[in-house]
Amino acid sequence: QEELFKKLIAHSKEYGFVFPSSEIYDGLSAVYDYGQNGVELKNNIRRYWWEAMTRLNENIVGIDAAIFMHPQTWVASGHVGAFNDPLIDNKDSKKRYRADVLIEEWMEKQRGKIEKEVEKARKRFGEKFDEALFRQTNPRIQSIAEKINAVNSRMVEALEQNNLAEIKKIIEDCEIVCPISGTKNWTDVRQFNLMFETKLGSVSDDASTIYLRPETAQGIFVNYINVQKTGRMKIPFGIAQVGKAFRNEIVARQFIFRMREFEQMEMQFFVRPGEEMKWYEFWMEKRMRWHRAMGFGDEKYRYHKHEKLAHYANAASDIEFEFPFGFKEVEGIHSRTDFDLGNHQKHSGKKLQYFDPELNKSYIPYVIETSIGLDRTFLLVLSAAYAEEKIAKEDGSTDERVVLRIPAPLAPVKLAVFPLVKKDGLPEMARKIMDDLKYDFACQYEEKDTIGKRYRRHDAIGTPFCITVDHQTLEDETVTIRYRDTMEQERVPASRLREIMADKVSL
Ligand code: GAP
Repeated sequence: QEELFKKLIAHSKEYGFVFPSSEIYDGLSAVYDYGQNGVELKNNIRRYWWEAMTRLNENIVGIDAAIFMHPQTWVASGHVGAFNDPLIDNKDSKKRYRADVLIEEWMEKQRGKIEKEVEKARKRFGEKFDEALFRQTNPRIQSIAEKINAVNSRMVEALEQNNLAEIKKIIEDCEIVCPISGTKNWTDVRQFNLMFETKLGSVSDDASTIYLRPETAQGIFVNYINVQKTGRMKIPFGIAQVGKAFRNEIVARQFIFRMREFEQMEMQFFVRPGEEMKWYEFWMEKRMRWHRAMGFGDEKYRYHKHEKLAHYANAASDIEFEFPFGFKEVEGIHSRTDFDLGNHQKHSGKKLQYFDPELNKSYIPYVIETSIGLDRTFLLVLSAAYAEEKIAKEDGSTDERVVLRIPAPLAPVKLAVFPLVKKDGLPEMARKIMDDLKYDFACQYEEKDTIGKRYRRHDAIGTPFCITVDHQTLEDETVTIRYRDTMEQERVPASRLREIMADKVSL
């Protein structure tokens, strides 16, 4: 799987999806640029989300708030005080780690030990093996599971109480060693705020410190009353937004999974206090359906309920996807209570209450949030779509192809048009067909190399349809259409192309 992930990263670069940022200067850690195909895929994913939110729900509208916000925003939201990661350094290797990640990795390792025991027993007992019973009764497994649970509870409590000494003690008790130096020589744990700071105004004294927003959500909260009033919105209603967010991540790795500059697609759904759990369940289910509609397989997704809650939430779950490096979070659904609006009301002194005509009373609405990373969804699509295949050739030998099975509505290029040869009027005919379709579909014209090579290139970027214009086209205006997934070819009238494609590529 790791091998596959490396190939995916190389493929992304080779075919113009993702480049390391400012690569001629050796790149910038955890910052990436999207290339010519990447930007199209990203735009299409964004549109898939945006339309599912704002078009299919009459009570959800969109906004586009600025990245820079009044600095008080981040005091009210809790980010100045609590948007921290606990950091620890190894004195020998001088390497810096997130203490909570070290502990999570330790727990993961312990879980691996349990799975090994189970596998060993399965081999030994064969058909008769009762896995559930074994897990419940095996003393070694019991003892490891108890250790994991104990560490997990201590960690939840330590994080809640911001008890840095206790976090260090857990690292010592678990005898966690530095992956680089192999030693247990740790510094104390300290907090590190993830927000990037910059200055607003000139370099004079009155320049104030502002932050690059670490989440888009606050742009929605501070606009809630504007949108509610001007849009005459009635609870329950939602506000959606897509935009950049910035976090000075300490452990930045796994390509575009964890970046320092990334894009979020967030929706805040404002509800009556007391009804939040109903809407929380509603959005968990609805968001899962959105994911599954991409067609990568239901078994690739699962929910993960949070035990450690962020400073703003009273319930939270992730939707996890099986990436090449395991099941990981791609989206969070959070019940944020009236934490944000309540605090903004307090700090701004402006009334952020809603008058509910049915209940005949005013209240600060509760909020259910759905928050999904655009870049992370991009990685999800790429890793689910990437396939290496052996294909049989006509002469009996085999060939290989790399194909991106991107759902057709998300594919960067929908249709590639090839003239069989670069003469006899075929290029002109091919261009004519393309000119007719390019207003409706992203089309690309290619005349270089053999048809086989042109197919391979478009398989590699996920183009669902390739058509070839040959001499027969000049006589009867039919073309050969070749389908990416089945590699089947069919002769069809050029006039039918629009109808054949329209169904498959619309969102
Ligand atoms: N407003 C709530 C919020 O920001 P979060 O769980 O911190 O919640 C939501 O982030 C989503 O944003 C994550 O599920 C992930 O998809 C994406 N995300 C968060 N940090 C990221 C990073 N450093 N790089 C890429 N995506 C990130």
